[in-house]
Amino acid sequence: MKVLVIGGGAREHALCRSLSLDPDVSALHCAPGNAGIAEVAELHAVDALDGTAVAELAAALEADLVVVGPEAPLVAGVADAVRARGIPVFGPSAEAARLEGSKAFAKDVMAAAGVPTARSYVCTTAAEIDEALDAFGAPYVVKDDGLAAGKGVVVTDDAEQARAHANACDRVVIEEFLDGPEVSLFAVTDGESVVPLQPAQDFKRAYDGDAGPNTGGMGAYSPLPWADPKLVDEVMDTVLQPTVDELRRHGTPFSGLLYAGLAITSRGVRVIEFNARFGDPETQVVLARLKTPLAGLLHAAATGTLGTFPTLRWSDGAAVTVVIASHNYPDTPRTGDPIEGLADVAEHDAPEAYVLHAGTKRDGSGAVLSAGGRVLSVTATGSDLTTARQRAYRAVGRISLDGSQHRTDIAAKVAEAAAGAGDEAAPQA
Ligand code: AMP
Ligand code: GLY
Repeated sequence: MKVLVIGGGAREHALCRSLSLDPDVSALHCAPGNAGIAEVAELHAVDALDGTAVAELAAALEADLVVVGPEAPLVAGVADAVRARGIPVFGPSAEAARLEGSKAFAKDVMAAAGVPTARSYVCTTAAEIDEALDAFGAPYVVKDDGLAAGKGVVVTDDAEQARAHANACDRVVIEEFLDGPEVSLFAVTDGESVVPLQPAQDFKRAYDGDAGPNTGGMGAYSPLPWADPKLVDEVMDTVLQPTVDELRRHGTPFSGLLYAGLAITSRGVRVIEFNARFGDPETQVVLARLKTPLAGLLHAAATGTLGTFPTLRWSDGAAVTVVIASHNYPDTPRTGDPIEGLADVAEHDAPEAYVLHAGTKRDGSGAVLSAGGRVLSVTATGSDLTTARQRAYRAVGRISLDGSQHRTDIAAKVAEAAAGAGDEAAPQA
């Protein structure tokens, strides 16, 4: 199978890594890719947002499968353009990707499907905003209605800050605060059949102890030893299958990756948000544990044959990923700094630990430079979370990038609790 992956972040590097290890994949291409992906796939300098150009590249490469990684090309209709050329594509149509692209649309779908989520108001005027903030009280949850790379959400006890963020948005969703730990659960779907992956937890805040601003994600781990073993079945029945069924009924069938961001509240599971693509950095740990070859699974979703796909196989072990971000991320990240130590990780820590590139590029001399806010993620596997975590941080310690930052507490509490008290580990908030 010849596969073309669209995108160039750590998620796409994780996808390309798994695809490169799949014996069914005979050729692997990526556009635009990054310095790390170049080691496992052939790169093409095509604009990921240009559906016509992507479809032409896929046809020229005789691709059997195109995998669209990030949300922006999905919302721009890149999967539609590829599908229109008759090439199987993993990724929803622009219409269905509105599940992520518009928080208001997602709320409508959930209401129609009876999916549990936070109560909310969609506001466009200052008066509506004041009314909604008063109705819920603190802590306030204020979400820009459009795509904001995980950074359009403000959760605060400060009414003035909540109001200022809401007034800065054209259309804003104000909603009830959900308490309880968060879980990311991904499902692969062809629009009818739904195959859940293993749950993961990511760390959204920039600094240790869940302090600082929200980011795209600073680290993740899987499995979740503290979660109810029936969680995946419950979310399948109450969230994933009803949402996929509703989107089909609605005339916008969703095929690709349905990502449910969940809060496990005192009153049960609630959807915080949906995404229309693999999450970053959770993908790094979920794919590290998936033993079923990836290409066949994504191809089955792209061709509507998921219903007969064999049960997925998973490693019993654990995976942890730690993100290394640029100086000043998520504000105004500095780029262009040299990254050292990548070869040391490859030499000393592989195959249990490895680096997945996010924002990187090579300069003329071949040196790898930072080129984005999140620069790298170091992923490691092990028989348990403690081992995976130690391996990840040992590899992180070999990498140097001037001014960079990373959290030192990814999976720390859960590993400690799992090691100490059987599986009754306290979840990270
Ligand atoms: P979102 O972009 O909707 O995933 O929101 C980003 C982050 O904001 C989530 O991962 C949560 O940590 C937090 N958040 C969003 N909605 C809520 C809510 N209703 N209650 C509490 N926290 C929330
Ligand atoms: N890890 C959060 C996201 O991918 O949106």
